Amino acid sequence: MAETAAAPNITRKMEKLRDQLRRHEHLYYVLDAPEISDAEYDALMNELKKLEAAHPDLITPDSPTQRVGGKPAEGFRKAQHSRPMLSLDNAYTAEELRDWDRRVHELAGKLAVEYTAELKLDGLSVALLYQAAGEGGARLAMGLTRGDGQTGEDVTSNIRTMRSVPLSISKEQLRKARVPQGQAFEVRGECVMPEAAFERTNAEREREGLPAFVNPRNSAAGTVRTLDPSIVATRGLVFFAYFLLIDGEYFAAGQTATLDALTALGFRVNPHRGRVRSVDEMMKFIDDAESRRARLGYEIDGVVLKVDSHAAQQRLGYTGRAPRWAIAYKFTAQSAVTQLEGIMITVGRSGKLTPTAMLRPAFVGGVTISRATLHNADFIERMGLKIGDWVKIERGGDVIPKVAEVIEDKEHPRGKLRFSFPSECPECGSPVVREEGEADWRCVNLDCPAKLRESLLHFASRGVMNIEGLGDAAVAQLLERGMVKSVADLYALTVDQLSGLERFAEKSAQTLFSEIQNSKKAGLARVIMGLGIRFVGERTAELLAAEFGSIDALMDAPAEELERVEEVGPRISRAVLDFFLRPANRDLVQKLKKAGVAMTAEKKQRTSQLASLTFVLTGTLPNLTRDEAKEKIEAAGGKVAGSVSKKTSYVVAGEEAGSKLDKAHELKIRVIDEAGLMKLLAG
Ligand code: IVH
Repeated sequence: MAETAAAPNITRKMEKLRDQLRRHEHLYYVLDAPEISDAEYDALMNELKKLEAAHPDLITPDSPTQRVGGKPAEGFRKAQHSRPMLSLDNAYTAEELRDWDRRVHELAGKLAVEYTAELKLDGLSVALLYQAAGEGGARLAMGLTRGDGQTGEDVTSNIRTMRSVPLSISKEQLRKARVPQGQAFEVRGECVMPEAAFERTNAEREREGLPAFVNPRNSAAGTVRTLDPSIVATRGLVFFAYFLLIDGEYFAAGQTATLDALTALGFRVNPHRGRVRSVDEMMKFIDDAESRRARLGYEIDGVVLKVDSHAAQQRLGYTGRAPRWAIAYKFTAQSAVTQLEGIMITVGRSGKLTPTAMLRPAFVGGVTISRATLHNADFIERMGLKIGDWVKIERGGDVIPKVAEVIEDKEHPRGKLRFSFPSECPECGSPVVREEGEADWRCVNLDCPAKLRESLLHFASRGVMNIEGLGDAAVAQLLERGMVKSVADLYALTVDQLSGLERFAEKSAQTLFSEIQNSKKAGLARVIMGLGIRFVGERTAELLAAEFGSIDALMDAPAEELERVEEVGPRISRAVLDFFLRPANRDLVQKLKKAGVAMTAEKKQRTSQLASLTFVLTGTLPNLTRDEAKEKIEAAGGKVAGSVSKKTSYVVAGEEAGSKLDKAHELKIRVIDEAGLMKLLAG
């Protein structure tokens, strides 16, 4: 058949594209030195995706297209570590380092001692297991969290989405790194969320009505344990490697050689590293690290010192919880003690009440701080905060300062004034409610002026309708003068009306008018986002727009149609349904439409998305009968075959799947479950 004749060529072409993509990923995500533009990279990726769609049997698990794959059905599996992932002892002063250095020399006896100095990255440690693969290379087999140190959680599908983690390593790379071929090995390191990615994640969560992550480390940890790899893929996590284990034993050439080998294997190794011989040199490295700290773009909380030589490491050995050959020098947190002068409550777009600590201004790590986040009512309660209390505030890197503890001693007596969380909305006086299982209090008034103000600001913001010039000051005036009662009223504003606003000259009124008019063309996804439906952020809005193609179709979609959309589960579909159940919201949509706001999008082509794909069904599926599954596949243009062969594109396996599943594994055919099939059908 022509297919077979063409295969070698196509395989070669696909392998070439994969190699190119791997090289550019390495240049971009590991070396920070891209050679091509994002558009060129996307073009290569699309070319490969097209070929793979036409030849699904030629897809390899380490293909750059396969970073986002199936998700673990229920939670993560546990797996044992090859060797426990220990912790580190801490030092806080040069004196403590001196004690440690002395002990190291005593125990090392005649062995010469030098140290590597590395940054202590503030993330979570993970272990990556690589197995020997075809042609003398190696392939990522599993990614594990630290867990309790003995067993971790198998988060492979999430780790795979991180572009700084190589899915495969070539024979050539192994040779350069002097890692034996044909053997399994393990790479350990730290998974961090850069500050920019952290800000982005929290902004998105805010838009979706989800609680913000407290700091980048929590955000990284939460992300690695997210059940949906496609979300992890968007979060910008970075993996820095620092250990290499072969046969459960640290790389025998020592720590400096380990870092070099990891670099040769294609991993990202933190460039701020050094070799030191004395405590003075350690302190010099530490001071230098501290001075760079704010500009790194990711958080560190100290410096890790490791005895370099493997022989000396072995001689020194371990205490119960940590190696004797390494220590963490921890920076003291940037903190200050100051007085809590008051607690301010602001009301957000969703009516959520957020408390902020108003502080007597204090100087912390180079900046003056007069506010700190208090999260929610429970946090205030847990801390037992009273107005007038002295509190310790902390700042890590560029993150929002937080109240760490209440100080109480002779010089710092407790405050007298108990704070009670308001039972009424500070903006409109309506009652506030807290739903079961939620941390936040919300204003019940659908027409609360604060909600309207925040909704207008959200609607106009960058990334939503992008109406430049419609900020706090303009919105406040429009509301005060009763010129807008909903976002739709923006479109009825005239240049004349706008130039009547304070500080709006004819020209800026004209500009704002054009900005508002231009926003009509922002497109359906932006409008969906602009409506401010809970949990619906940028990505979800785009997926909904592509699926439904018009606001009318979306407004009337039942839950099961909504849930067909990638990433939409019961929580989001409930929020969308609730939103469009309210007559006021349906009215708003009609008004926007009347005002000329574009409310359609190109609908994703969904005819015959399974064309040329062959499926084999095995086992019992949770919801569909075999006939129903067959019908659905065929309706989408796919074929259903009775037995597994090389031509099979996917095996859909349910409970008690039998020999067909074994055959699929043997032939390396992709296996999906019912949920996976539904996703494919959804396109
Ligand atoms: S070495 C035997 N090196 O700090 C464990 N750890 O406080 C030795 N960490 O669990 C770990 N940067 O999560 C090492 N350059 C670095 C590190 C580092 C951050 C973390 C790691 C570890 C924790 C110990």
